[in-house]
Amino acid sequence: MDKFIEEIILTNDEIMGICKKLGHLITEEYYDKRPILVGLLKGSIPFMAEFMKHIKCDMEIDFIQASSYRGVKSTGTVMVLKDMITPIQGRNILIVEDIVDTGLTLQEVMNLFQDRGAVSIEIVTLLSKPDGRTVNTVTPKYIGKTIPNKFVVGFGLDYNELYRNLDYVGVLKESVYKKQGGF
Ligand code: IMP
Repeated sequence: MDKFIEEIILTNDEIMGICKKLGHLITEEYYDKRPILVGLLKGSIPFMAEFMKHIKCDMEIDFIQASSYRGVKSTGTVMVLKDMITPIQGRNILIVEDIVDTGLTLQEVMNLFQDRGAVSIEIVTLLSKPDGRTVNTVTPKYIGKTIPNKFVVGFGLDYNELYRNLDYVGVLKESVYKKQGGF
């Protein structure tokens, strides 16, 4: 185990198993729907790359980078830093996330996709932290693993842009972010 990791949450083998299972599920439920998998940058990249290999029906991929305003007004505005290219009017969308915490980002991205005329929108996420949820409109349909409210890194998940390249997911030692001034 790496020295900055407190505890392993998902081994690489477990992640591979999850990706296979979710891929089969999506194949069954979307075989005639030609879904667009929309990865939220940057954290979803490793999960998206692994999981899509197990989808055995027609599908497309695209990416969006969004950042939610979390100021005093929680009116739900999403700032699109990089937009997707594929038109989504009339399409079935699967948003791919690394982790759903408060749900704020996803709520706003879902509103945006609804406004753009998507027929259906569901969420596929590697991890979910239900204890962190502050919005009740975001309910991921496809979840790899539900975890406690701890700060995790690896397989796309970062702390200050680091650790995305780990091939597993683990809890980051508190001493790492205390030393660097917190997150
Ligand atoms: P939400 O809008 O609070 O659900 O934000 C989800 C985003 O916050 C994820 O895509 C991650 O980028 C980040 N995030 C939430 N929890 C963690 C964590 O434990 N480790 C790393 N990033 C996290």
